[in-house]
Amino acid sequence: MDNALQQLQQLPSALLPWYDRNCRSLPWREDVSAYRTWVSEIMLQQTRVAAVIPYFQRFMAVFPTVDALAAADTEQLMKLWEGLGYYSRARNLQKAAQIIAARGAFPQTYEEVLALPGIGDYTAGAILSIAFSQSIPAVDGNVLRVASRITGSEDNILDASVRHRFRTLMAQVIPSERPGAFNQALMDLGATVCLPGGEPLCDQCPAAAFCTAHLAGRQRELPVRISKTKKRTEEKTVFLLLRSGSAALRQRPTSGLLAGLWEYPHVEGKLDERAAAAQLTAWGLTPRRWIKSMDFHHIFTHIRWEMTGYVVEVEGSGCEDWLWADEEDRTRRAVPSAFERMTKELT
Ligand code: ADE
Repeated sequence: MDNALQQLQQLPSALLPWYDRNCRSLPWREDVSAYRTWVSEIMLQQTRVAAVIPYFQRFMAVFPTVDALAAADTEQLMKLWEGLGYYSRARNLQKAAQIIAARGAFPQTYEEVLALPGIGDYTAGAILSIAFSQSIPAVDGNVLRVASRITGSEDNILDASVRHRFRTLMAQVIPSERPGAFNQALMDLGATVCLPGGEPLCDQCPAAAFCTAHLAGRQRELPVRISKTKKRTEEKTVFLLLRSGSAALRQRPTSGLLAGLWEYPHVEGKLDERAAAAQLTAWGLTPRRWIKSMDFHHIFTHIRWEMTGYVVEVEGSGCEDWLWADEEDRTRRAVPSAFERMTKELT
């Protein structure tokens, strides 16, 4: 790893001038504050920059301050988050905002920031370096890819001890005069040049001259990612039930996956049309018209939902805890993106 440190030590002088020329213009890079950096970093976990931008702008228009977020109506917050997925991120944002609002100011030490709900070492590093100019690395999957290629590391980046080692190395490399710019330069390099998989753009890379993977022509083979946990697959049959322009929605339990969000009624397993009709009868509904069926899927962190969907015009009242939501009502309720394929049938 000594060799690795020497190689990574060349990064600041190569990367900062490159960043000054190529830095992406992004809304959270204007008018920088801890609050804006934090919200953007939470949105950017699991979600691409282009998808985040409009969400970030709407979010800041509605909740411009930590206090506004702390006092937000949860239903409105979830609605603003609709489509971004991983809703526990939004719930944790609000919990953390309430803690920050109660203490009166954004915390400025690594331990305090890390202690906030929903904030891990990457996000704590990003906030403290970008908003408070502290020399703390922010090592996510993109940075691990860049660092693995530069050092030629064949260690599995999904292994926590490997991530920890790269964080320790980056902590020795991060420049004290521009730590936020350095971390963001790494993010931009990972997102625009040192691309995952097939075709990193090595001819445009400011680190090409000292990148082990590039010099050995091995950039496509790195980083090594070996996952120990396999995703579990669950089959579901989802019903978009229509009655006089309204659709049946029910609320998910208050804890667990997609807690508290609204969904279309569904049952376990893949039902053919006959079994689906029997399910409607069991719910006290009479099908009037079978409009459409479709297969679709959604991937969560540890689960894959394989779904069969039926769009059916029905008569009857359905289950007691259902809500028949008209168009206006639906626009106020957050329905997770797992069901997006069904929601599309409403528009
Ligand atoms: N990805 C994660 N954080 C980012 C940031 N601050 N800017 C650009 N891309 C990012």
